[in-house]
Amino acid sequence: MTDTPRTDAIDRLIEKHGPATICEALMPMMTAERIARIDAVLAARLGSVVTAVEDTYDPHNAAATLRTTESLGLQELHVIEARLRFSAAHAVTKGAHSWLDLTRWPTAEAAIEALRHRGFRVYATAPEAKGLPAKTIEDVDVSTPLALVFGNEHDGVSDQAIAASDGAITVPMFGFTESFNLSVTVGMAMSRIATRRRAYLGATGDLDPDRRARLRARWFALKIRGVIGVLERRLG
Ligand SMILES: C[S@@+](CC[C@H](N)C(=O)[O-])C[C@H]1O[C@@H](n2cnc3c(N)ncnc32)[C@H](O)[C@@H]1O
Repeated sequence: MTDTPRTDAIDRLIEKHGPATICEALMPMMTAERIARIDAVLAARLGSVVTAVEDTYDPHNAAATLRTTESLGLQELHVIEARLRFSAAHAVTKGAHSWLDLTRWPTAEAAIEALRHRGFRVYATAPEAKGLPAKTIEDVDVSTPLALVFGNEHDGVSDQAIAASDGAITVPMFGFTESFNLSVTVGMAMSRIATRRRAYLGATGDLDPDRRARLRARWFALKIRGVIGVLERRLG
């Protein structure tokens, strides 16, 4: 699983040589289709909508959250591990974890404070039955970067996360059941917020050129067997 800030060998090489040099060195080893696919995904990557989960218990929910976040074209998943370590079932992630920036946090406060410092508005998600005054995924303001925090399968979002957030968001429910499954909520809420944010931006992707270039170099490298050796031989 890829953690952020990443300090793995690929990132160290990108730091040392610059992303353009890495891409140039690896390009002869890649098909035109592969490069086009990476560029298309990069162009649609959204950095200003972030998924955060707190104390996820079930590895299948963890994996589905990861896979859904990546599939929606979101770049960041933040995991708060105040009580439980985030552990994803690899049979479900289908490799989605390699393309994401995953950041682990020891407390909800630390995660939320860091996101707010970067200009994100942060909302705890909770079913209406929880009794919090909440906006819905349809009426929350999407004119700023947004992070949504999803709670534990049994206890929901913690009091600490609620207190540190800018408010609560709910996904409307109309049946007898009082809450959705965690990963189902991630799918519904993040899909809707990403769609609304993209419509607001008038663009599918929003990564700045520097982040896009680094990610491009990383994604080039991820698909090449023995890439560290290849780069060290070519670039020294
Ligand atoms: C199975 S629910 C937890 C239910 C728990 N009894 C509670 O009080 O929240 C797991 C997580 O899914 C999200 N969730 C479930 N239904 C939701 C809804 N209708 N609106 C917003 N979030 C919801 C919340 O993040 C919740 O913490």
